[in-house]
Amino acid sequence: MKFPCRLDKFVSHLAELPRSKARAAIKRQAATVNGEVVTAFDFQVKQQDEIMFEGEQLVFLGKRYYMLNKPVGYVCANSDELHRTVFDLLDEPNMADFHVAGRLDIDTTGLVIITNDGDWSHKITSPKNNKFKTYLVETQEPITDESLEQLRVGVQLHNEKDLTRPAKAERLANFGLRLSICEGKYHQVKRMLAAVDNKVVELHREQIAGIKLDENLASGEYRQLTVEEVKL
Ligand code: URA
Repeated sequence: MKFPCRLDKFVSHLAELPRSKARAAIKRQAATVNGEVVTAFDFQVKQQDEIMFEGEQLVFLGKRYYMLNKPVGYVCANSDELHRTVFDLLDEPNMADFHVAGRLDIDTTGLVIITNDGDWSHKITSPKNNKFKTYLVETQEPITDESLEQLRVGVQLHNEKDLTRPAKAERLANFGLRLSICEGKYHQVKRMLAAVDNKVVELHREQIAGIKLDENLASGEYRQLTVEEVKL
């Protein structure tokens, strides 16, 4: 939410009401700004204003950042007709203008960051900023030295013009590797493994830029990012 902000938008967002209901209530004098009744929907609210609505103060909570340990079966979308979404796992007020910074597939687990700070999420997800995302990958076929080297140098994905950018690839087991990439193409890790004649069996994200998935979060749990993590 950006300030100044229209009163009807502010009330609708913070009281979680459709805009039409917020307007009707404002018209019947349910809102005050700094102690004065205001009935104009387009009154411009400033961040420091004290807004009361139906006897309760509406407080804008500002920029918020959450990390979630995403389970299988949830989609990274604000709403979905068929599947549960990661937002179903967050019990927080006023989530209407939140988004996922760097989505995961429905069958991928691990670190998802959810925020209402678009500039910040652009910084950590834009390939221009060279921020690595790290995945643990379990594969169907054994991981060869040659495929590790190809992943590091760059592979040709189907329907893409350029090779993938140089990645970090480390073998963890015969069928497991840690892969860090600084792009976010559609299904990128699965397509990279397909490009070296392998197949992803399980995929888990453990880190985005300097932010590591908190190992105390069980699958489906979340917490706010710390101030230090936001700065990372
Ligand atoms: N790459 C994929 O293929 N899937 C994900 O969920 C994330 C990266």
